[in-house]
Amino acid sequence: MKLTTGLYGSTLGKKILMAVTGIILFGFVVGHMIGNLQLYLGAEALNHYAELLQSNRPFLWSFRVVMLFCVGVHVLAAVQLWLRNRSSRPIKYRVFNPPEVDYAARTMVWSGPIILAFILYHLGDFTIGCTNPDFVRGDVYHNVVSSFQVWWVAGFYILANLMLAIHLYHGLWSLFQTFGLDHPRFGGVRRWIAVAFALVIGAGNISMPLAVLTGVVR
Ligand code: HEM
Repeated sequence: MKLTTGLYGSTLGKKILMAVTGIILFGFVVGHMIGNLQLYLGAEALNHYAELLQSNRPFLWSFRVVMLFCVGVHVLAAVQLWLRNRSSRPIKYRVFNPPEVDYAARTMVWSGPIILAFILYHLGDFTIGCTNPDFVRGDVYHNVVSSFQVWWVAGFYILANLMLAIHLYHGLWSLFQTFGLDHPRFGGVRRWIAVAFALVIGAGNISMPLAVLTGVVR
């Protein structure tokens, strides 16, 4: 018990927790995107897939609890690390430009809250239906298409998924560092792995609102 609280209390412990929950959430994002891409196969395929996921209630709810736990721990550790970082340097650097702190790293502070806001809106849009006036329970294809036909909703999805791609890029980059896989010799490979995953997930997710907006999917 003491060991667990001691580990959580340390900066490294929090980083490890962020990395582990990040990997689980990353797995969800990849699986979710692959499933959602069935939008391109038509209403029957997407609705059948969604029905399959919804039909096993115990599995669905266990899965939701795990996801909620991971999001909670990931956000809590991130906020605590950010606060700790800030209090250890109360006076800002006059010029602060270390090479590792690139655009993605600096955007982590606000890409996180935007993604969180997106998830809340997204649950209202497709799961609960409270923010989607055309919501029809069980007709996932209809819900997705009717939602993305509204330009500002599609725009919000595109922006949030752009943020998610940047967040994933930096998250993967930091993950290698947390687990000690940051030998300078492999810096290039590490960056390319992070870029490739972020690009594939960003492009896959953004393609869906774009396809509806442009009338490719209707
Ligand atoms: C354009 C991209 C996306 C599309 C088209 C999409 C579509 C959907 C749909 C249709 C559902 C409801 C499924 C059902 O009721 O059976 C859903 C649920 C959900 N989505 Fe997404 N999604 C997208 C991106 C994301 C992203 C990027 C995240 C997380 C960062 C996310 C997180 C969730 C969560 C947490 C749920 C609730 C799952 C549950 O029922 O427990 N989605 N999504």
